[in-house]
Amino acid sequence: MLGLLILLVIIFALVIGLDYYNHYKDPRRIIDRIFPGPFRIPIVGNALIAACSREAFYRVYLNLSKSYDYKPFRLWFLKQPYVFISDYENTKKILSSNDLLDKAEDYRYFEPWLGQGLLTSKGDKWRRDRKIITPAFHFQILHRFFQIFYDNGEIFCEKLTAHDGGDVFDVFEYIEMLTLDNLCNAALKLDIQAQLNPFSALVCAIQNMGVVIYNRIFTLWLRYDAMFRLSSTARLQKKCLEIIHGNDVKIIRERKEEMKTKQPKLKTMEFDEKEKVAFLDLLLEMQDDVGYTDEDIREQLDTFMFAGHDTVTATLGFLIYSLAEHPDVQEKVYRELLDIYGESERCPNFSDLQDMKYTEQVIKETLRLYTVVTAVARRVEEDFELSEHQVVPKGVEIVLLLSALHRNPEIFPNPDIFDPDRFSPEVNQERDSFAFVPFSAGSRNCIGQKFAMHEMKITVYKIVKKFKLSISDKPEDKVRTRTGVVLSSTNGIRIKVQSRKKKTPSKLADQ
Ligand code: HEM
Repeated sequence: MLGLLILLVIIFALVIGLDYYNHYKDPRRIIDRIFPGPFRIPIVGNALIAACSREAFYRVYLNLSKSYDYKPFRLWFLKQPYVFISDYENTKKILSSNDLLDKAEDYRYFEPWLGQGLLTSKGDKWRRDRKIITPAFHFQILHRFFQIFYDNGEIFCEKLTAHDGGDVFDVFEYIEMLTLDNLCNAALKLDIQAQLNPFSALVCAIQNMGVVIYNRIFTLWLRYDAMFRLSSTARLQKKCLEIIHGNDVKIIRERKEEMKTKQPKLKTMEFDEKEKVAFLDLLLEMQDDVGYTDEDIREQLDTFMFAGHDTVTATLGFLIYSLAEHPDVQEKVYRELLDIYGESERCPNFSDLQDMKYTEQVIKETLRLYTVVTAVARRVEEDFELSEHQVVPKGVEIVLLLSALHRNPEIFPNPDIFDPDRFSPEVNQERDSFAFVPFSAGSRNCIGQKFAMHEMKITVYKIVKKFKLSISDKPEDKVRTRTGVVLSSTNGIRIKVQSRKKKTPSKLADQ
């Protein structure tokens, strides 16, 4: 017995010794002297901070940034060192740099799903694809989607009507279907009618893939491919990918068939006509010219299904909740809508959306307080100097903690308070543009930013014009933010709706 104990102690000492030796040899360990950070435990580093619920983990990162006074700090996750940034000077330096365009290693966990789509690709492939895809999201063509967002918003409101005057309910699933319809109809020209026939298998598979990726990044043993392959998470991934990729193959096949008969060939079009081609058709039309395989197209399709769906769903959820939680803000939005549209129910045009200035402030404040892409990460391929001459050595990953950046009290006083006036033109003017980057910034910024802003404005117009939103007083009905591939609420988005139409016109005028 004693012998076994001694053997265990020796093995333990050897493992720790080996870890110290490897760490000592690792040139990246210089970050321990440059940046503050919690004590690095041998072997696991600081990875144990992730051993908590997703709700708690969201707070852990915010609290860490706060405890380091929003200055850069470092963490080790197993053998990988990370430098975390939550100040706008460094955010600006990093996002403006052409040397930091490649994503961090952790994005490899997206690859079984998204392959080398626009979000995950690197170097020349990313540059070429971004150039090809950009015209499909150019602001000059986005007005073609307004009617789609408007019509889908109408169906969404019909769903809400079923809860008119009733008790609190979870609106999240309706939002998921709405944004899926918006994305598929507008960007992909696919009429899947998710709102009418809830597309649950696909949506569930996309949701579960988010959980798979989150678990792979933050569960120690799942970071090792060999261990992952043996896990139930791998089985879940396989099941989800069968559904998602099976759906893609079907979409691409059907679209190709349709295009043979209906679509004029891109080569025979004038330039401005080319810009009107939906994103998916654009890729299919250019397939031969740029040498895309069906697999390349599938990867881009999945990338847009993921990047353009979950993000808008989450933000719209928090936006609707914030409007319901703050009746004064909601009332100001409603007044603005009355000023722009009067009693008319018409589809908004470009100038209407530009006039929705207060609504835009509310959306921005939602994106600040509920930054759904909580962090973006880059791999340092060559030593990179931060703003105070601190050098991040090659091989370290830089994580921009957007959610912490947006809660820096020096930039956003009382950061936990929801206050759309922070984004009034006067206040905006005094703030550096890199202090608020929910869509990231620089060359690898979000390609769908304008698409998302228009979609959210039109949805707010549809809902607030028709309903008064409120929340219940019960603590269990409040949102509870939890981290994930995108931020979400553990207990959904629970609101009440009351139709405005029930009021007499005179009462409406009195409001
Ligand atoms: C509220 C909604 C949205 C938010 C907050 C958001 C946020 C972001 C952020 C922060 C990034 C940078 C990610 C990184 O560097 O890791 C990004 C990239 C991207 N987003 Fe969005 N996004 C939204 C909506 C959309 C929509 C509607 C689409 C498409 C229709 C879209 C497509 C993409 C793509 C393809 C990329 C990768 C761009 C590249 O690397 O070149 N996003 N988004």
